[in-house]
Amino acid sequence: MNRDVFAPATLGPVKLGNRVIKAATFEGRTPYGEVTRDLIDFHVDLARGGVGLTTVAYLAVAAEGRTHREQIVVGPGTRHGLARLAEAVHEAGGRISGQVGHAGPVANGRSNQVHALSPSRMFSPLSMQMVRSATERDLTRITHQYVDTARTLVDAGFDVLELHMGHSYLISAFLAPGLNRRADRWGGPLANRARLARQIAHAVRDAVGDEAGLIAKVSVGDGFKGGLTTDEAVEFARLLEADDTLDALQLSAGSSLMNPMYLFRGEPPRKEFAAVMPWQVKWGMRAAGRAFLREYPYQEAYLLDKAARVRDAVTIPLILLGGISTRETMELAMSEGFSYVAMARALLREPDLIRRLEREPRGAGLCIHCNRCMPTIYAPGGTHCPVISAPG
Ligand SMILES: Cc1cc2nc3c(=O)[nH]c(=O)nc-3n(C[C@H](O)[C@H](O)[C@H](O)COP(=O)(O)O)c2cc1C
Repeated sequence: MNRDVFAPATLGPVKLGNRVIKAATFEGRTPYGEVTRDLIDFHVDLARGGVGLTTVAYLAVAAEGRTHREQIVVGPGTRHGLARLAEAVHEAGGRISGQVGHAGPVANGRSNQVHALSPSRMFSPLSMQMVRSATERDLTRITHQYVDTARTLVDAGFDVLELHMGHSYLISAFLAPGLNRRADRWGGPLANRARLARQIAHAVRDAVGDEAGLIAKVSVGDGFKGGLTTDEAVEFARLLEADDTLDALQLSAGSSLMNPMYLFRGEPPRKEFAAVMPWQVKWGMRAAGRAFLREYPYQEAYLLDKAARVRDAVTIPLILLGGISTRETMELAMSEGFSYVAMARALLREPDLIRRLEREPRGAGLCIHCNRCMPTIYAPGGTHCPVISAPG
């Protein structure tokens, strides 16, 4: 079946205007951890610009699960702003998804002023602090926090929830044998390492039923020794499919902790990163920047080969992600059997790209994959494409 990427579609119980999802890009427009007018405008522009579903990134389930202190922790204090955001996106004709997560070892404990958590005790190169090992009690609490977050977002009008299961965030760190050295029921064979992911997906689905779409952002390969391999990623997708808790899987890769460029490809913005980092990390970046921000060539649909391994193993709808910026690639994704496309950098460059591509059968986005948007997540004014605002 060759689907039309621009035709109306459904994602679980939710009707979408088309099959294009704005992938989560932490917006950085929440200086006090609350929804701002600027955050609302960012998503309204994307909805008006033609994406079927825009994703709010990233909504933490717990204070220690933020990557840094400006992020929104979902709860009674932030619910009203989130409802305003959802309403504004709906009024603009769009649908809204919330990326729900716990950053685990990717959380910056120094910025959060709460120690980060990971499956096993480790040193964090991001906060230059030790990260403590999660206890049974932590994992029960965090599962409840996912449920409370999901309920709050659905009550606030969110259409879809995206569980973050990639990039070495907490769930993904449990999946990676190199980060999860536990000898209890949470470590060892894949079935144990996947327990947290499955427990959370079950609990959230039970809590929201069919009031919202529920998807997960998973890895097709972490790109570091000790990370989830593609073989295990395929097995993990099979386990999630068998649980019947999710409406779709979004196929990502890489690790924000161990190998970020594996998920982006293209030129690593080492200088720009070093300029905006706190001194401890800046020092580390100078020393280890080349090893940390490695260079992988950019190509359109760079995760397609690995994503196709998952596609061949499951029937759950799949979202192709990674290097989609032309109409031809969007159509390729459909003809390769994916149900949706997710796009990040191309839409940071041009929030109205989808409307344009709908009119231009040979159209291509203007993003040049320089990755200089990455360090802007720490910049005043929030995440943006610096190429648009550069003179000349
Ligand atoms: C500036 C920036 C911020 C990002 N923030 C997040 C995030 O908060 N959560 C997440 O899962 N992925 C995040 N990503 C990754 C994107 O969702 C996406 O997986 C990646 O950019 C590859 O897609 P693309 O080739 O369409 O850009 C971010 C990417 C960029 C460029």
